[in-house]
Amino acid sequence: MKPAELFPVLASDLAETDRVIRHRLGSEVALINSVADYIIGAGGKRMRPLLLLLMARTLGYRGAQHHYLLAAVIEFIHTATLLHDDVVDESALRRGRQTANAVFGNAASVLVGDFLYSRSFQMMAEIDDMRVMRVLSDATNTIAEGEVLQLINCNDPDTNESRYMQVIQYKTARLFEASAQLGAILCDAPPAVEQAAAEYGRRLGTAFQLIDDVLDYSGVTGDIGKNVGDDLREGKPTLPLIHVMLHGDAGERTLVRHAIERGSTDDFEPIMAAIRRTGALEATRERARGEAAAARAAVAGLMPAGAASAHRDALLYLTTYSIERDR
Ligand code: IPE
Ligand code: IPE
Ligand code: MG
Ligand code: MG
Repeated sequence: MKPAELFPVLASDLAETDRVIRHRLGSEVALINSVADYIIGAGGKRMRPLLLLLMARTLGYRGAQHHYLLAAVIEFIHTATLLHDDVVDESALRRGRQTANAVFGNAASVLVGDFLYSRSFQMMAEIDDMRVMRVLSDATNTIAEGEVLQLINCNDPDTNESRYMQVIQYKTARLFEASAQLGAILCDAPPAVEQAAAEYGRRLGTAFQLIDDVLDYSGVTGDIGKNVGDDLREGKPTLPLIHVMLHGDAGERTLVRHAIERGSTDDFEPIMAAIRRTGALEATRERARGEAAAARAAVAGLMPAGAASAHRDALLYLTTYSIERDR
């Protein structure tokens, strides 16, 4: 089940956000509509809009419109990064369908990604709030840096944990952070609450990406909607492989070193055996649990102790979902 479906408290907010997404997608250029409809229509978990809406509701948002527009902006930015990411990663499957680059080609994917980015900035300008503008322009810039840092790490078996953590902070956690922080900004929350919201989003996003990197080895293609083994095929030194490089025996380290250098799944089975023997996925999950616990702790800074709120409970639930998810 998608996380959004678990929250009846948000059903109407999410339906309205999807309506805005559909309404704002259009262009007079037919190919843009085809590619954008193709990827947006494939669904997705809508995690980032969910986060923004939940945070805004937790903090008592009562405004009329801006939360939907902003939630749509965030999903557009996320979708643009996916279009670009699948080109860079040469991925063939996304959201259970062939990727846009596989169907329409790399050029169309990159250009429609740019369209979605710039459309999101048009929508942001409508909101006309300098704080919103600053958070989102900083976040998108950081995501781009993260993707370039990741490119530098690719095929480099000497990538260590701190370089890996920086990449996931930049490419993924930053947009989660912005989503949660914007929920607080919409409510004119005091600085300490805004900071707690940002911390919650950052920690949740870090846990989310750590588990994404686990699922790239242990997931089921039909569940995750992406091809298992993509990271190894790209020579991406994610935490599971870094763990084997640190804790494997000489043979296992050589095996992983060569696979990262070559970017190949030829040795997928022996590498999986090394991953299992060294407990690499469990170690990565443990790291994710630590981040999720920090996200839970940040929730305490959002509202007075003891105050009941279905939305706050949903924020807590997302920390569990992010580490237990299998898709
Ligand atoms: C995929 O994000 C990219 C990562 C940051 C792991 P999601 O897992 O949120 O993708 P969708 O939107 O649900 O398809
Ligand atoms: C997340 O990294 C990509 C972005 C945040 C743009 P991944 O490359 O691991 O994401 P998936 O696995 O392709 O969804
Ligand atoms: Mg990818
Ligand atoms: Mg991945």
